[in-house]
Amino acid sequence: MNELLIRGRVLTFLAEPQGIDDTAAWRYIEDGAVFVRGGKVVEIGEHAEVSRHAGPGVAVADHRPHLVLPGLIDTHLHFPQTQAIASYGAQLLEWLNTYIFVEEQKFAEAAHAAAVADRFMDELISNGTTTAVAYCSVHPESVEAYFSAAEARGMRMVGGKVMMDRNAPDALRDTPQQGYDETKRLIEKWHGRGRAHYAISPRFAITSTPEQMEMSQALVAEHPSCYVQTHLSENRDEIAFATSLYPQAKDYTDIYARYGLLNDRMLLGHCIYLSDREVSVLAETGAVGVFCPTSNLFLGSGLFDRDKFDRLGARWSVATDVGAGTSFSMLETMDEAYKVLHLNGQKLTPFNSFYRLTLGNARALGLETHIGSLHAGADADIVVLDSSGKSAMEYRMRTATSLAEELFILQTMGDDRCVAEVYVAGKAMKGKGKADAARQRLLETA
Ligand code: GUN
Ligand code: ZN
Repeated sequence: MNELLIRGRVLTFLAEPQGIDDTAAWRYIEDGAVFVRGGKVVEIGEHAEVSRHAGPGVAVADHRPHLVLPGLIDTHLHFPQTQAIASYGAQLLEWLNTYIFVEEQKFAEAAHAAAVADRFMDELISNGTTTAVAYCSVHPESVEAYFSAAEARGMRMVGGKVMMDRNAPDALRDTPQQGYDETKRLIEKWHGRGRAHYAISPRFAITSTPEQMEMSQALVAEHPSCYVQTHLSENRDEIAFATSLYPQAKDYTDIYARYGLLNDRMLLGHCIYLSDREVSVLAETGAVGVFCPTSNLFLGSGLFDRDKFDRLGARWSVATDVGAGTSFSMLETMDEAYKVLHLNGQKLTPFNSFYRLTLGNARALGLETHIGSLHAGADADIVVLDSSGKSAMEYRMRTATSLAEELFILQTMGDDRCVAEVYVAGKAMKGKGKADAARQRLLETA
């Protein structure tokens, strides 16, 4: 029945920490265990107790002294930009035109899309990310490749075909009708199939005509359980261009509001230069602003104002935004998040960072019953973190005296080398467990 007892120092969140001493917000079990059966968590707790319930003879993955957490969640990135990370020297609009709109044309070819999708999923797993929300290219083939690669690995993934019908090269443009028809077909095929969720994805106001926005509005109304994703207020030139294209809108946010796109399943990438009015609109509608720190620094976009979101009661999440984002690692992402907030005099505690990477981002997606925390009935998407995964970290860890300090070292110095193992629906996907499973399969077929 596919059972496994995962042993280690278990950490999972119950609520958003309200300060460094808010120990009620998380559960930490020094000699802990997670018992997994059929891809789900059956029980978490003290190892002695959980192993007694699991019974004798159960397979054990002993990860001591490492930390065992829910799999990390990335709420915004671009799968066709996997090979365009580190494209030099431009801010948003020039970067899109010079590099990205060239790169994304390659995804007209299904074989290319499939090869990149495989690599993309493997990079996520290698970095401990078990769920992500991605844009595909305008080509339906890219969506097929994306969800097929996720399905082959059993991953819970959100994604969708980008819709763009202006201000992009001919080869990357659809039409309002084509964008609608292709999206509809992809929703019918993929949304709710296994662990797949569809995101209706008008790229941003600059690349969609009012007619395409109306089609997006119809799709959102017809498919209320789908996510919606777009970009908002990332760069000053972008804001000026977008608002010039929709002169009747009060501001950039109002463009999307006028087309009925703002709801609690809407993810808005960046949200750097929003006024109080705009953040209040996000708060009223439940739409989520997505903080993409490595991207915002890399493109010279600006500094996300988290305190404004908190003060006005708006929801926010964190994300890599690969390929403007410079790393698939959510640990490195939180390192940059800490620095960006610091530049604005805002603090991010280590417990709040790890809350965001897990339960916080799961709540932003409304998926907290399935992912983001370790509780009975949750999906067994689990990451095992080694706080001494690099030699400089091992040396630094010798002086660490608290869990908070250890988490801060992990986020400040860590990357994929600190991800010792990843379980997707209870299946080992990265480390020794994956090698053991492969050996077992070979033995069985011999
Ligand atoms: N705005 C519209 N498209 C994109 C994109 O691909 N990346 C980023 N960072 N911003 C965008
Ligand atoms: Zn983006």
